[in-house]
Amino acid sequence: MSRNFLKIAQDINVQPLQMALIRQPELFGNRTSRSDAYASPHQQMTDIWVRYNAYENLKRDPEKFNDEHDSVWYPEATALPQVRPIVSWLMSHVEGERLGGVLITKIPPGGKIAPHVDMGWHAKYYEKYYIPVQNDQGALFCFEDGIIEPQPGDVYWFNNSRPHWVENHSQRDRIALIVCIRSHKASQEVLCHGQQ
Ligand SMILES: [Fe+2]
Repeated sequence: MSRNFLKIAQDINVQPLQMALIRQPELFGNRTSRSDAYASPHQQMTDIWVRYNAYENLKRDPEKFNDEHDSVWYPEATALPQVRPIVSWLMSHVEGERLGGVLITKIPPGGKIAPHVDMGWHAKYYEKYYIPVQNDQGALFCFEDGIIEPQPGDVYWFNNSRPHWVENHSQRDRIALIVCIRSHKASQEVLCHGQQ
């Protein structure tokens, strides 16, 4: 059993979100600071930032944008009202006490996210949860000690401080919802260290 991911729920109804994303493809790729970064592992990916540090803070002081902050909902949350009920349910499920970033990622057929670890205050402070929204057979989320081959609507906790990467060998876009939550310490310890 992998020490770096754990399935914590299944059968979340992600079809309304999947359809909303198909209807609004223009939402992807508008905030490109992640994929534009030099030698970024995310260059083949487009994303939708639904919640993070207020975007005006990026212009105010780009160097501090990823330092400690309170996340806020972006206008994309209004365009995608299907996201917040999923996030609210997940907050309850993991005894969440603080909600951080919420992100939707899209990787085309044949695309990859190269092996990397997530850096910075936000990555370290919050636990990360992965909910596949569109994930055909062959779209893989990989760790050194195991591979997630999920069904849409599964929910996984994963350890973003260890190397992880994505390979989309399927014939369709691989679309994932990533939710970052700080939980009560006891819950966090169970998720991180409870499995043997
Ligand atoms: Fe990552």
